[in-house]
Amino acid sequence: MTWKLAQSTELDNPNLLLSESLLTLGNGYLGVRGNFEEGYDGQFKSIRGTYINAFHDETEIKYGERLHGFPLTQQKMLNVIDSQTVEVYIGDERFSLFEGEVLSFERNLHMDRGFAERIIRWRSPQGRETRLHFRRLVSFTVKELFAIDIRVEPLNHSEQVVFFSTVNGDVSNYVDVNDPRLASGHAKRLNVTDIRYEHGLSLVRDTTMITNLEVACATATAVKAGSYIHAQHTKHYAVEETYECAGGEPVTFTKFNVYTDTLRHGNGLVESGIAIQDLQRDTKFDELLAAQRDYLDHFWSISDVEIDGDTELQEGIRFSLYQLLQSVGKDPYSNISAKGLSGEGYEGHYFWDTEIYMLPAFLMTQPDIAKNLLLHRYAILDNARMRARVMGHDKGALFPWRTITGPESSAYFPAGTAQYHISADIAYSYIQYYLVTQDEEFLRKEMAEVLFETARFWIEVGHMKDGKFHIDSVTGPDEYTCIVNNNYYTNVMAKHNLEWAGKVYRLLEEEHSGRLAELVKKIGLDSKEPGEWEEAATHMFLPYDEILKINAQDDSFLQKKRWDLENTPKEKFPLLLHYHPLTLYRYQVLKQADTVLAHFLLEDEESLETIRNSFDYYEDLTTHDSSLSYCVYGIMASRLGYRDKAYRYFKETARLDLDNIHGNTKDGLHMASMGGTWLSIVSGFGGLRVKDSGLSLNPWLPENWDGLGFRVRYQDRLIKVRVESERVIYTLIEGEDLPITHHGRDFVLVSGRETIIQWNGQEDEALIR
Ligand code: BGC
Repeated sequence: MTWKLAQSTELDNPNLLLSESLLTLGNGYLGVRGNFEEGYDGQFKSIRGTYINAFHDETEIKYGERLHGFPLTQQKMLNVIDSQTVEVYIGDERFSLFEGEVLSFERNLHMDRGFAERIIRWRSPQGRETRLHFRRLVSFTVKELFAIDIRVEPLNHSEQVVFFSTVNGDVSNYVDVNDPRLASGHAKRLNVTDIRYEHGLSLVRDTTMITNLEVACATATAVKAGSYIHAQHTKHYAVEETYECAGGEPVTFTKFNVYTDTLRHGNGLVESGIAIQDLQRDTKFDELLAAQRDYLDHFWSISDVEIDGDTELQEGIRFSLYQLLQSVGKDPYSNISAKGLSGEGYEGHYFWDTEIYMLPAFLMTQPDIAKNLLLHRYAILDNARMRARVMGHDKGALFPWRTITGPESSAYFPAGTAQYHISADIAYSYIQYYLVTQDEEFLRKEMAEVLFETARFWIEVGHMKDGKFHIDSVTGPDEYTCIVNNNYYTNVMAKHNLEWAGKVYRLLEEEHSGRLAELVKKIGLDSKEPGEWEEAATHMFLPYDEILKINAQDDSFLQKKRWDLENTPKEKFPLLLHYHPLTLYRYQVLKQADTVLAHFLLEDEESLETIRNSFDYYEDLTTHDSSLSYCVYGIMASRLGYRDKAYRYFKETARLDLDNIHGNTKDGLHMASMGGTWLSIVSGFGGLRVKDSGLSLNPWLPENWDGLGFRVRYQDRLIKVRVESERVIYTLIEGEDLPITHHGRDFVLVSGRETIIQWNGQEDEALIR
């Protein structure tokens, strides 16, 4: 039941816009919002969108006062050629859900079968009744392909059925001048450069204004009908096709759209599109559906999470995993943008959201996809080096706060570029990848270089004072507190980065001196540097308040006045839309988890008491105005045994978009929160941590659930974890015996067998079958 997301069928604007995002289809390369093929008759606003991951233009950033090092341009993911449109005419009446009478209407997303559909019984103003079934998919196996299938069945008439289909190159992006999270200008970035109807295909080609990237769409249409007349017409911006089908019988129209672009297909993008169409020429829509199913069967066999006894949350986690799969780039040009391929919020940029929130779900289920994300960062390492120079650092790499192909795209540096922690976040995810996969080749090649370059960057940024290493004038994850000295999160993450850089250096020195010599030469590494990294890590200053017994968020945070959250009217949230940033910066108030997140990622740095006190303290000051916040508080609530809270935070995270909790899902799905949903289960309720010392779990089951199940890959093993109220069952499905820690006790999981651990009160008892 929870494999099918049945969508609201209300025909009002808020619902339609919401459904457009929720019913997005994608495959990591191509994404298509859930718009109606026939449109809304101009009655309502629609964000009609088709996106290609990383396909972008550049726009100028205009500053009132431009200072040194401010980025001059910004990248922007573009809404590309629109191939969604198909109008259907029954006799002389145009089908529209806003006219006549809708006798029944269903809208579903099939997460196990990889398609979306609308099933409609419609009575036209003149009383003709027709059943229409719209199905669409974005193929997981042919990444360029977006296919539509429409079946029209007359119920009480034998009128002619006409399909009018267009492929339109005259497209623009969506803008909203009042919301800083959306673009405020530069809507039109594509020019149509070629329009043809050839080889039985509509061919449309567009070029971006500045980057000179090209996108093409090659569309093949067909009908299955008794008899019909086909006509096509080429305008200067669109190709239009008409099929007039004789009435009386059910007729089916199909439209296969193949998207190609210069990043992936080079200058021969149109020819590539034609070639892909040739390969698909005899393929039926049902065959595409079968391929989707096979792909998803495999995906779910590893990635599924089962929550027994709570349909809504089960739906939430499956939806999250499905959308993560649909959004994640699987080629070297792409990553996962903050909204995936479901909308234009944050302009298709990649943030730290990838490493800290989304990557873990892939790392522990499909490590190859995770590796690709890390390779994308490696591919932009030169940009990160350049950015560090612009920012005045002689060595090392500073990754951009938001980007597509590497250049910094953040125009507001206090809550953008100043978030230097992104370099440590990327280093953290490299380390996690290595711990999970033990990919030695990756360690020697990409990981060593990224760790060395990020480590030397911290040496550049920080300084020793009174025997401690300090990092000044940076912004931590909490964007309501900017440009501070010694942000705890940044410092502790930098410490981890520095420690590991030192460790990898020593390892290469001992075991792979040839590779080390190459790298030393490539990046001009001085033999004294690793010692400096180790020294800085050992002496890293980690702010701690003796009175409150918490880690201070930074040097000045605790001196500020507390924001009165209790008496702030509801309509003033999110605060960023109602208060000048400086006002926010003057108070103790958090947009999102900061120190608490550091305590999740690096829990061994502090005592449990400090972690608990810090959670209690910061929770009262956190607005959760960022969707990246609930999940972290939920995970740490689990860790601290605050079970009710853990469950409540999970509910907010798992259904954030389904219930439009932040009110802006229309602009795209909150992908970090989707990753956070998986983390809340696996690292929250499952208590899973990956450390140098191995794999540990601390599972527990929320009272309202009958059971919880998930699988993880770890060091060539596949482990199934089943949590029930009386016991936990670990099954080592693939791979050799594995020692793990369960609630602080060591067990060895035996290959191919179940390990059942029961808890009677506080006591664990191991029964190995
Ligand atoms: C959050 C950032 C996040 C960005 C993109 C902002 O609202 O504060 O932490 O990276 O959204 O999701």
